[in-house]
Amino acid sequence: MKPKLIIHGGFFSESGTNDDVKRAKQNALREIVERSYAHLENHPAVETVAYAVSLLEDCDLFNAGTGSQIQSDGKIRMSAAIMDGTTSKFAGVINIEDVRNPVYVAQSLLHYEDSVLGGPEALSFARGIGVEHYNPETAQRRQEFEEKSAATARTGTVGCVALDANGCLAAATSTGGKGFEMPGRISDSATVAGNYANAFAAVSCTGVGEDIVSGAVAAKIVTRVTDGLSLGEAARKTLGELKAFDGFAGIIGISARGEIYHLDSHKYMVWAAFSSGVETF
Ligand code: GLY
Repeated sequence: MKPKLIIHGGFFSESGTNDDVKRAKQNALREIVERSYAHLENHPAVETVAYAVSLLEDCDLFNAGTGSQIQSDGKIRMSAAIMDGTTSKFAGVINIEDVRNPVYVAQSLLHYEDSVLGGPEALSFARGIGVEHYNPETAQRRQEFEEKSAATARTGTVGCVALDANGCLAAATSTGGKGFEMPGRISDSATVAGNYANAFAAVSCTGVGEDIVSGAVAAKIVTRVTDGLSLGEAARKTLGELKAFDGFAGIIGISARGEIYHLDSHKYMVWAAFSSGVETF
């Protein structure tokens, strides 16, 4: 089977006005999708989605890892999840602080029975497996926080979906949240609404976490593909259901049949795919 891979960098702007930021994100996505695809050629899907998301977390243009949004109390809390479609194992960290790559902490949890950890206990686990202290704050995010500017809020969750040469699917998603949120708020990214995979399909979401959870988006799309819909039909039906409450979401996905698909409820989600060459938007 020919491997396939798609990544997203969230919504570049709700107003659609900042072309420079959009171009910078597209260039970053193009480079990351090429590096990630090279990885996928000789690694399993589940390892590749973690690798791809770690590269996105390390790029400060996106709202995940370095460059995460700051919450209303001035702290950064990040969430990330990974799901292996072959084993149906989901692992995640919710509201973790002071680590460089939340997705790698989530990936480690795939090997534990207690595979979704939150807050200080997630951090204790990370330190216990040797993850070092890292401050993900950037000057840009601090300035936005000081100015109470929401211009880039909710716009840069990242994710990756991959299908490897053995036909195995996986998804990973990482976020700094929506910015200025109440401490204790839970993002969709480390739930099955924001990140889900099985043997039939894998999906990663971006957008407003509350809307994505209300729509059970990733799990619903994957379930619909499992029950026989095409990936496109499943995505359109599921995002269509968000219209009732003007839900804000974008998805990327791949099915076991090799369909590769992206869809957003509002313009513009930035994404890049690699199946026969690179495509970006
Ligand atoms: N989708 C990211 C969040 O709402 O936290």
